[in-house]
Amino acid sequence: MTIQHSYQCLVLLSALCAACLMGCATDNPAGTAADLPGARGQITRRAFGKTKEGTPVDLFTLRNTKGAEARICNYGGLVISLKVPDRNGKFGDVVLGYDMLDGYLKSSPYFGAIIGRYGNRIAKGKFTLNGKEYTLAINNGPNALHGGIKGFDKVVWTPKILATPDGPALELRYLSKDAEEGFPGNLSVIAVYTLTEDNGLKLDYTATTDKDTVVNLTQHSYFNLAGKGDNLHHEVMIKADKFTPVDSTLIPTGELRPVEGTPFDFRKSTAIGARINQDDEQLKFGKGYDHNWVINKPAGKLGIMARVYEPTSGRVLEVLSTEPGLQFYTGNFLDGTITGKGGWVYQFRNAFCMEPQHYPDSPNHPNFPSVVLKPGQVYKHTLIYRFSVQP
Ligand code: BGC
Repeated sequence: MTIQHSYQCLVLLSALCAACLMGCATDNPAGTAADLPGARGQITRRAFGKTKEGTPVDLFTLRNTKGAEARICNYGGLVISLKVPDRNGKFGDVVLGYDMLDGYLKSSPYFGAIIGRYGNRIAKGKFTLNGKEYTLAINNGPNALHGGIKGFDKVVWTPKILATPDGPALELRYLSKDAEEGFPGNLSVIAVYTLTEDNGLKLDYTATTDKDTVVNLTQHSYFNLAGKGDNLHHEVMIKADKFTPVDSTLIPTGELRPVEGTPFDFRKSTAIGARINQDDEQLKFGKGYDHNWVINKPAGKLGIMARVYEPTSGRVLEVLSTEPGLQFYTGNFLDGTITGKGGWVYQFRNAFCMEPQHYPDSPNHPNFPSVVLKPGQVYKHTLIYRFSVQP
């Protein structure tokens, strides 16, 4: 073997080693946000598996300087885990999900997902825009739910690590093509997750279209602030004087009903379990809470929508958003058939979701705030899940 040959072999060998390291590595520090000027915190990236079509998917670990950590995957923009401290400073995971990508690919009730193009239900999967009727896939009883058969929770987003002074951030981009899942217009979506220094997981959405369309983006993390057991002892405050009652298929009737005197009055912090089993038609329709609250705050303004306190851990979750509504869902369709992270069998009401959004079925309710996006306009939505503790 000539010197030239051995040099070539060496080059080949090192290239192979590097490829193996990148492919098989656990956390790959390439793209560490802390290296970038002005940036705070850290992001690492590693392979997380492949979709059914064979597209590789990565897992991004965001850490702020306080030790909080969010793991996010560019398949579905899924929040895979979220570790925040309890009142003794002990970090614990506060979201439900699976350990491996495979679980999400097989079947998931939207654990941790980005939801779009339209969050929640559209009645009978039909709506009319500019005089034209659009038909969507029916995937929930007689209705369309969470963007269709293959919503934004089941697509691969293009990831980019960002350096920001607020904390480590992950940008995810997706182009939803004209007529995808029946919706009109090419919709270009950018979602940026940032793990802030005050232990907030922030999500900034922007979207633009080339045809009139409807858009309603949200986030579907299932929270349990104790990291185990049911959700009934979590104490919830929702800043809303009204909610939107539903029919038996969970489509809003169009009424904005005062919460006063109903089990939907969360203006004062109340345990989820305090009234959830009351003999109330709305609670029966949802098998618990699965409703949209009309938040008391000016439209488009970032503000607190809800606060949840879990007494055993002392953890507090505040939900902030620029949207007019909040879907509060108490995990009523969890039924013990899913085994999640660490072998936890997810039972009825083991978690809750707080989904800031426009009201369900808005395209069919002219009295609800509009969800129409036109060419030249920019859809914007910021939401924050902010964690702290109470003594
Ligand atoms: C809906 C529930 C649904 C859940 C998971 C929530 O946003 O309101 O009715 O079961 O998502 O699919």
